[in-house]
Amino acid sequence: MFISIQEALNKGKGKVSIRGWVYRERKQKDMVFLVMRDSTNIIQSVIKQNKVGKKEWDDANKVLIESSLELEGELKQDKRAPTGYEIQVDKLNVVQFSDVFPINKDQSPEFLMDNRHLWIRSRKLTAVMKVRSTVMKAFREYYYNNGFDEMAPPIFTPNACEGGSTLFEVKYFDKKVYLTQSWQLYAEVAIFALEKIFCISPCFRAERSKTSRHLAEFWMAEMEAAWYDLNKLTESAEECVQYIIQKTVKENEKELILLGQDIEKLKEIKTPFPRLKYSEVLKILKEKEKINIPFGKDLRTVEEDLIMKHFDKPLIVTHYPKEIMAFYKPLDPKNPKEALCFDMLAPEGYGEIIGGSQRDLDVDELKKWLKKQGEKPENYGWYLDTRKYGSVPHSGYGLGIERVVAWLCKLDNIKDAIPFPRTMLRYTP
Ligand code: 4AD
Ligand code: MG
Repeated sequence: MFISIQEALNKGKGKVSIRGWVYRERKQKDMVFLVMRDSTNIIQSVIKQNKVGKKEWDDANKVLIESSLELEGELKQDKRAPTGYEIQVDKLNVVQFSDVFPINKDQSPEFLMDNRHLWIRSRKLTAVMKVRSTVMKAFREYYYNNGFDEMAPPIFTPNACEGGSTLFEVKYFDKKVYLTQSWQLYAEVAIFALEKIFCISPCFRAERSKTSRHLAEFWMAEMEAAWYDLNKLTESAEECVQYIIQKTVKENEKELILLGQDIEKLKEIKTPFPRLKYSEVLKILKEKEKINIPFGKDLRTVEEDLIMKHFDKPLIVTHYPKEIMAFYKPLDPKNPKEALCFDMLAPEGYGEIIGGSQRDLDVDELKKWLKKQGEKPENYGWYLDTRKYGSVPHSGYGLGIERVVAWLCKLDNIKDAIPFPRTMLRYTP
């Protein structure tokens, strides 16, 4: 019976059988040290010439990094071993002798990207992918626990949701359609049936910017709910983010430590998160950072980073200028220059992790802003129908999975938050 390396480490003594890949190897005259890895951890093993048969000794000497093998032996505590234990091997079976593995120390980020299909086995990416899995699980759990249903959106769409400039066009038989930028327009349709819904779906944006925060293909976790206003929406978002953090800290302590993250700092992130209006952000930027941004200009990465110097929890920024917002964000009746919307900004320079809003219910306003943004309202007839048959107030938001993973894993670049990144310059392997 094989057990995982983590189970072996937990067991701490006795006979164990494990299987996995060679992570490090060191050959001496009468001993071979193999550090083995599997999806759970690493463990040192030692093969002594006088403890195994001739074939096994010869095999152990031929084994290179990334060879796959099965080992059986006695587990001993050993302070010098990387995870504190060592297997003294008495049976060894090589499943496959690896060729010389092309990745060794100190290789350039581009080389690692070209060899992503192999680099994916690294301890770093393994840890990140585990955190990512927890983040998605936590989002789902939070909304299931709060009475939401999961709804599957289409990926081929006839419309823009977030503006025409970042649409990916695809040939659709002999027609032209787009890859989805967000499920939102379909979510607004489906709340009339299910009321409270969420999804986790790939989204596509032809982002021409080569930043450490943008991907051409990313995953968005989105929710939409009937009867929610901006207040209720921001509460749902902050509680969900807190739930994601607490769940990740609990389930991925080992991975977060390996990635150099400070767990105590994450544990302290509790609701309520601070809230500021966009206009108040401008004021702080002016007074504390001496930079003057006129009302109506979007906050760029630099400004987001400057404002976040003053916060160690995520910040909820509301009431951005309507002028620069997507067509579906409604005007605040109390101030017709501002929209009833919010972004959530992560601390430590990870930028916008969430965008959301109340939804405009006024068909004429929607048409007006669609036109202003270069769209033809007649193409949105199906969407505008939602405002004709029992229209109700509703709100929703989208959380960028990779942005959250990059923040929680302390990554330098969003590309490492997804197994196979797609950017303007990269679509292989
Ligand atoms: O702010 P955005 O554009 O909002 C929407 O798409 C709304 N329709 C969502 C909704 O209300 N249902 O995108 C939401 C989030 C951003 O805050 C960011 O975290 C992430 O999606 N995001 C990206 N992540 C990686 N690469 C990109 N190119 C991204 N564009 C947006
Ligand atoms: Mg946004």
